Amino acid sequence: MTTDSSQFGGKWTKEKLKILENYLDSYTTALKNQSFDLVYIDAFAGDGFINTVSDAESDTKEFLEGSVLRALKINDKPFDQLVLIEKNPHRIERLETLVEEYSNHRDVKIEQADANDYLSTCGKFLRGKRGVLFLDPFSTEVSWQTLEKIAGYESLDTWLLFPVSAISRMLPREKRPDEISENLVECLNKVYGDESWRELYTESPQQTLFGEPGYERNPGIDGLVRIYKEKLRSLLGRRFLEKHRDLKNSKNSTLFAFMFFVGNQKGISLAGKIANHILDEI
Ligand SMILES: C[S@@+](CC[C@H](N)C(=O)[O-])C[C@H]1O[C@@H](n2cnc3c(N)ncnc32)[C@H](O)[C@@H]1O
Repeated sequence: MTTDSSQFGGKWTKEKLKILENYLDSYTTALKNQSFDLVYIDAFAGDGFINTVSDAESDTKEFLEGSVLRALKINDKPFDQLVLIEKNPHRIERLETLVEEYSNHRDVKIEQADANDYLSTCGKFLRGKRGVLFLDPFSTEVSWQTLEKIAGYESLDTWLLFPVSAISRMLPREKRPDEISENLVECLNKVYGDESWRELYTESPQQTLFGEPGYERNPGIDGLVRIYKEKLRSLLGRRFLEKHRDLKNSKNSTLFAFMFFVGNQKGISLAGKIANHILDEI
């Protein structure tokens, strides 16, 4: 472990990783007698360790095992293949050291790549395989187009962090939606796949100084999560799990909504049930 391991938040980071780890454990155990190859793809891999930044209530910092290390340590029925995608060259170096120590002769591929690019072009690699994908970006990196691709592969049970707090900051409360800057509009369209986020704005009873109708966005985050979930539901049907987990910081603000969808129709009863149960228990 190095002292410059990635720094992320406290309690919510543990919650997210515990949910993922429990899923990986249950999933591999449930499918251990199946003949197909099981693959784990960590699309925002990090470097295997997390140096949690202190929460408001405590000054202490601690090192946590990150998603990659947890996936490598699954040992009842280990994954046949692991693909670790990471853009940052320093984290790639640290991943290489980690994999040397923990791969245990398993097939582990480290890809220095952009996650959206990799995931948009890995259909051939996934043919005949089943697996789990973890989408754990810092912020708004996951594009809707990538999710459409993933849905089409019908191979990957996917855990996805929707960046509630970042999106909320991009949507000012009292502005006309057409006053939002071009680069923010581009980013919102990339995440939602279209302009559906504009529905969040309605005409307000108060006029502007120039006598024009004012616009406002409902406070809170419910609307922006609701629209995203509606889109996932229409993309995935029953493969999309209605239940999600709000990951909150120590001030009780939601940072991410942690969501899940099943790789294909056949997996709904088993994978959906496991994910549902884990979200109830943790
Ligand atoms: C939140 S961290 C992931 C933490 C990791 N899942 C863990 O539990 O240890 C996000 C990671 O994604 C990487 N990253 C950011 N943008 C990326 C992109 N477009 N493609 C691939 N990796 C990216 C960052 O360098 C960072 O290591």
